[in-house]
Amino acid sequence: MVDPPLPRIVTSPPGPATRDLARRLRRVESRNVTYLSDHFPVFWSRARGAVVDDADGNRYLDLTGAFGVALAGHAHPQITAAIREQAGILTHGMGDVHPPVRKVEFLERLAAILPWGERSRITLANSGSEAVEIALKTTLLATGRPGVVAFRGAYHGLTLGSLAATGRDDFREPFRRRLYSGVRFVPFPTTAVEADESLAALDLALAAREPGQGAGDVSSGGAGGVPGGATHGPPGAVILEPIQGRAGVRVPPPGFLAEVARRTRAAGALLVFDEIFSGLGRTGRLFALEHDGVVPDLICVGKALGGGLPLSACAGPVSVMDAWPESPGEALHTSTFLGHPLACTAGIAFLDVLEGEELTAYAAREGAAFREALERELPRDSIREIRGRGFFIGIDLGRPGAGVRGTEEALRRGLIVLPAGAHGEVLELSPPLVLSALQREVALERVVESIRIAGGGDP
Ligand SMILES: Cc1ncc(COP(=O)(O)O)c(C=O)c1O
Repeated sequence: MVDPPLPRIVTSPPGPATRDLARRLRRVESRNVTYLSDHFPVFWSRARGAVVDDADGNRYLDLTGAFGVALAGHAHPQITAAIREQAGILTHGMGDVHPPVRKVEFLERLAAILPWGERSRITLANSGSEAVEIALKTTLLATGRPGVVAFRGAYHGLTLGSLAATGRDDFREPFRRRLYSGVRFVPFPTTAVEADESLAALDLALAAREPGQGAGDVSSGGAGGVPGGATHGPPGAVILEPIQGRAGVRVPPPGFLAEVARRTRAAGALLVFDEIFSGLGRTGRLFALEHDGVVPDLICVGKALGGGLPLSACAGPVSVMDAWPESPGEALHTSTFLGHPLACTAGIAFLDVLEGEELTAYAAREGAAFREALERELPRDSIREIRGRGFFIGIDLGRPGAGVRGTEEALRRGLIVLPAGAHGEVLELSPPLVLSALQREVALERVVESIRIAGGGDP
């Protein structure tokens, strides 16, 4: 490589080209979408491996994997070559009518790594939110019960169906009157004591009776648990992230997921694991569910799945997924780009790289070492807690907004990181699983420096 794969700031970001792009963007994009300030963001022009170049020629280390997508690194040569070749052969097919060959090949490849193996049945989609929509539709078809139990702080997406199960009031509030009101929220625990409280709340939510039966009804409410008053009978689904990602990389205590599974099944509901962020090696296991040895009834995957192209899936065993009727020629759930040949090709190449380069083992080994190094290097009074599994790390700085300030400080030092947590109190790291030893060393040094400047610590 001619250029060093290390951060290099030539113009204090955001530089002049970036500021010009921000002005142009402001004129054409809805103002809700991109946060634009005097300090943030930078505009990406190029990325390879774990480094990203901006429009001003600055180079950054990407410690986010671009929302966890670039798990195998940006523009991985094997994935890029596969996309190039496929682009010259077939770029679009007719997903649910005349399917591209690549769709079949990708589905076979994905089924082979799912917990149900050959018994897996999969519906493909284009975004994580859509995979969640499919999972929620499946649980209704399979159980006949519309009600859902979800967890506070959960992030399942922002489409109306997935937003109904997303446990963050800031996203929900403007649309509350249009959200399905049969979702009951229970707390997500990170300690054994919290787990007991959470399981008690789960029991209550699962025990809701049929509407009109009186006692036992559990009111649905906002993500903060404000009673909404509507009753929807016993829920048909319990949905959760095995590790809450955007809530600040929150890991439940040992045994919690198994207890959730046991109680969910005893109540006749289906368990959905949203592994859109945590899946595909990031946590040091292929799926985060493996840490607790729990197999859910449905699993949602996305983000890294398409090797950088939009691709997601909802999967389960045939016994659950056959709740969907045989297509009579009009699929009950599909979309124009379903089984897109380019995305499926990239997905196959990504799974080849994931296995061939043993990225899951890298996440386990290097992620743990990075967490230990952070524990060593970060002054105790600057953080509340360092959490995570594999290379999925949340540095809880304890103060609202400290993660946001840390993100801006990191940018100035040539690092791309993201804030997380309900109050922007966490710095979230989910880098490409290809950082070299030198890149990890530089990343560590500059993360520590950014946190020192941003100022964390218990309020
Ligand atoms: C756990 C989880 N589920 C669902 C989603 C939504 O995915 P998308 O943004 O692709 O719709 C996300 C996105 O961050 C996520 O982290």
